[in-house]
Amino acid sequence: MKTTSRPKAHQKAGARTLAIHAGEPKRHGVNVGVGTSICRSSTFTFSSTQEMKEWAEGKNQAYIYTRYGNPTLTVAEEKIAALEGADAAVVTSSGMAAISSALLGALQQGDEVISTAQLYGGTYRLMRDLFPDMGITVRQVATSLEGIETLATPHTKVLYVETPTNPTLRLVNLKNAIAFAKKHNLVSIIDNTFATPMLQKPLELGFDMVVHSATKYLGGHSDIIAGAAAGSRKWMDRVRHMVIYLGGSMDPGAAFLLIRGMKTMGVRVAQQCVNAMTVANFLERHPKVARVHYPGLKSHPDHALARKQMKGVGSMLAFRRFCDRVQLFLLAASLGGVESLVVLPVYSSHYRMSKQELEAAGVTPGTVRVSVGLEDAEDLIADLKQALS
Ligand SMILES: Cc1ncc(COP(=O)(O)O)c(C=O)c1O
Repeated sequence: MKTTSRPKAHQKAGARTLAIHAGEPKRHGVNVGVGTSICRSSTFTFSSTQEMKEWAEGKNQAYIYTRYGNPTLTVAEEKIAALEGADAAVVTSSGMAAISSALLGALQQGDEVISTAQLYGGTYRLMRDLFPDMGITVRQVATSLEGIETLATPHTKVLYVETPTNPTLRLVNLKNAIAFAKKHNLVSIIDNTFATPMLQKPLELGFDMVVHSATKYLGGHSDIIAGAAAGSRKWMDRVRHMVIYLGGSMDPGAAFLLIRGMKTMGVRVAQQCVNAMTVANFLERHPKVARVHYPGLKSHPDHALARKQMKGVGSMLAFRRFCDRVQLFLLAASLGGVESLVVLPVYSSHYRMSKQELEAAGVTPGTVRVSVGLEDAEDLIADLKQALS
C-alpha cells in the first residue's frame, strides 16, 4: 500500500512547474524517456517470501497489486499532492469514488455531516439516498453559512463544502468555514473541482481534505473519468483504505492521461478564465439573456469574495435558456475540458431532484450551464450570437 509524500525538491516551485515536473522520476543520462511511462501491470513481483511478509506487516512500501498502488498512479498522486500543497494524495476511478471514499473514511454510523445545500447533484444524491440507510445524518447550510452554528451537535463529525458550486457558482467563505470546523473539531472536506489548485488552495487555509473530479480541469480533455483526494498522510491513509475496500482505484491508462492533462493545466485554466470573462460580458449585455451567474461579473452576489479568496474565477458560467441552436458549443454533460460545452443541469447533474431541491440548489428548468473551453473567444461569441438570435 503506497501513500506517497510530496517530493521535497519541488516544494517551492511554482504551480505550472509542479504540474509538469512533480512526481516524475529523475530524467537524465542516456536513453531516458522524458514522457511519463505507463505501468500497465496489475501485479508486482517480490524477491522472497520474507519481503512479502514485511509488506504484509507494513514494514516495506513495495507495490503488490494495482488496486493498492502502482508506479503510474504514484506519479499522478505526487503531482496532485504537490499542486494542492498536501502531504499525500490518492487517485481514484472517478470524482464520486474520491468523494465517497473521503466521506466514508471520516464517518461512522450515528455521525452527522453538515454540508452546503448547493452541491454537485451526484454528491447531493449520495448524501440524500445512501447516507440515511447507513445511519448518517446530513444537515444542510446555505453557501453563506448563515445559521451554521445552530446545526452543530455533539454527533457532527464532518463539514463538507463545494466552492464554487455546480452549477450556480455560489462561493463559500473558506476562512469562515474553517473557523467553524476547527471550533467544533470537525473533519473539513472541500470539493475543489471548479477552482482547481491553480485558483484556490484550501489545504493552506486549514482544510483537512480536498477532493476532485479529475475528469474535469485536472484531466482537461474530456477523455477520462477520474478522481483524487489530497490531504495529510493520516487522512490519505484512510482514503486509500476505503479505495482498497470499495474498489474505486484508478486504471493506469487513465492515470497516464490525467498526468498528461495536468501538465498543461496552468495555461489551460488561465486562458479559460479569460475566455469565460469575455463570454460572460457578452451574455450579460445580451437582451435575450435573463441572468448570468459568473463570479467574475460585478452583478454576481459573490464577486467580492471571489476576488478575495480565488486567484481567478474559473471558466464555468450559468445563464437562463437556449441550447439546441449552438453549433460550436457541444451539448454535453461534464466541464473543464478544452471543448466548450453547454448543458441543462435539470437533465444532467441535477436530474432526479424535486422542485424544492432544485430551488435550494438555485437551478431552474431554464438554467444553462456553460463550460468555456479553449477555442477562440470570438468564435464562441459568434456561436452564441447566432444561437440567441
Ligand atoms: C463539482 C463536482 N464534483 C464531483 C463530480 C463527480 O465527478 P465524476 O463524474 O468524475 O465522478 C462532478 C461531476 O460533474 C462535479 O462537477
